[in-house]
Amino acid sequence: MFKARLEQTTRAARACLHGAIDDKGALAEPMRYATAGGKGLRAFLVMESARLHDVDDDTSVWAAAAIEAIHAYSLVHDDLPCMDDDDLRRGLPTVHRKWDEATAVLVGDALQSLAFELLTHHPLGLGQLQLISSLAQCAGQHGMVHGQALDIAAETAKVPLTLPEITLLQAGKTGALIRWSAEAGAVLARADQEPLRNYASALGLAFQIWDDVLDIEGDAEAVGKAVGKDADAGKATFVSLLGLEKAKSMAQGLIDDACDALSPYGADAETLREAARFVISRDR
Ligand code: IPE
Ligand code: IPE
Ligand code: MG
Ligand code: MG
Ligand code: MG
Repeated sequence: MFKARLEQTTRAARACLHGAIDDKGALAEPMRYATAGGKGLRAFLVMESARLHDVDDDTSVWAAAAIEAIHAYSLVHDDLPCMDDDDLRRGLPTVHRKWDEATAVLVGDALQSLAFELLTHHPLGLGQLQLISSLAQCAGQHGMVHGQALDIAAETAKVPLTLPEITLLQAGKTGALIRWSAEAGAVLARADQEPLRNYASALGLAFQIWDDVLDIEGDAEAVGKAVGKDADAGKATFVSLLGLEKAKSMAQGLIDDACDALSPYGADAETLREAARFVISRDR
């Protein structure tokens, strides 16, 4: 169920996103490139949480495309030489390697604006304004960008981060966009967001722990990006603090919590539970 739905939502979100890229624009090609590939997990979370609340795919796809645009922008900038300095992303050269750094900066800028264009392109009902404002919050100074800043600062910190500090960092850099995605369905339907918020908080943390595990145990070809870089860069991760085994069991505990958080939805939320289990079994 999950795999088929993931494929369907990824395809729909990408078509919507690519349809919104101006073919005559100077950045059309690198923007398409930066938004191709990827697992599409955030788009899936948007469209599946929407389905749970009887919001149709034709409506939720705009929000799914928007979050994949923000996510792709965050990756293009994350890979820049002044950030993580990576040459490979989704199995292909990073945007600044294929083009140049100025192009990568501008592609990120354009994708960020495009996300808000997508969210305002089409009437999405009474929850639309909240969805737009919460995306600004989750992506920026209170969310993803905040976490990215803490992540970069931690590389040169004199003392290693504590568990609560790493938790806060990860909740921003990865957690915030995942939270926005999973809550989107409830926001669009003006329903209670709490069960999905609890699901997403646990899921987001587990997702980043698994990303850190893959950096150590993953196969570069499968992962589609360089591995073994976090320790070299002095990144503060759950794995660097707890070690592999404890970090993995923490991730498993978080996935159990994520699944439990969906109990108000009963069996209807089974696809979201499958997604949670996928997060800590994936090889890319
Ligand atoms: C990678 O995210 C960056 C993190 C937040 C850990 P994904 O693993 O979802 O990247 P894609 O979209 O599938 O390439
Ligand atoms: C990046 O985290 C998260 C964002 C882009 C916001 P990482 O730096 O760990 O992601 P990867 O490993 O490069 O995909
Ligand atoms: Mg990074
Ligand atoms: Mg990185
Ligand atoms: Mg990583």
